[in-house]
Amino acid sequence: MAKFYIGLTLCSIVLMGQSFVHCIDQDPLAVEDWFKGMNTMKEKITKLHFYFHDIVSGKSPTAMRVAQPTSYTSLTGFGNVVMADDALTAGPEPNSTIVGRAQGIYASASMVDLGFLMTMNLAFSDGDFNGSSLSLLGRNPVLHEYREMPIVGGSGVFRMARGIATAKTYSFNLLGDAVVEYNVIVSHY
Ligand SMILES: *[C@@H]1O[C@H](CO)[C@@H](O)[C@H](O)[C@H]1NC(C)=O
Ligand SMILES: *[C@@H]1O[C@H](CO)[C@@H](O)[C@H](O)[C@H]1NC(C)=O
Repeated sequence: MAKFYIGLTLCSIVLMGQSFVHCIDQDPLAVEDWFKGMNTMKEKITKLHFYFHDIVSGKSPTAMRVAQPTSYTSLTGFGNVVMADDALTAGPEPNSTIVGRAQGIYASASMVDLGFLMTMNLAFSDGDFNGSSLSLLGRNPVLHEYREMPIVGGSGVFRMARGIATAKTYSFNLLGDAVVEYNVIVSHY
């Protein structure tokens, strides 16, 4: 199997005659070129659909509390901070194909209702999006049917992304595990 390297960046590697059009891991000069060329590029819209598995119980939880208030307790869990590395899958079943991971922090930020501050990187590992990420920052009132949260940026194929994530709880159990359906729509270059 022959490999032909044209240019210096991963972006321009041609393997078996097929060029990789998705530019990630570029050096700073290549990033600058890309950035300066942005005004000649067309903005693209991408829709994503996946399930987020927040597993807090059992032998292998993927989300765990890392901080809590020492002198305050509330029904809303105000002040609890959870670090997560939650699987994102194509379907709702636990054994469904993994398409990425939600890596980041969610924290109870409301004293009056259940409302999380979400600061998550959605790190994709599947297909065209492998190696690219979206950054989500928003308020998640978990008892609402639909929670709308801003996508504030992205990397790789999602450079300069802006968009909206809509979360809807698919299932949960009394131990606190939850499966959440995510629809994401982003514009990016
Ligand atoms: C996932 O698990 C269900 C039931 O536990 C099973 O019926 C199904 O075949 C499994 N799917 C895969 C892709 O392994
Ligand atoms: C994603 O990319 C990594 C690193 O380039 C590679 O090892 C992995 O096999 C890829 N996964 C898929 C599903 O394409």
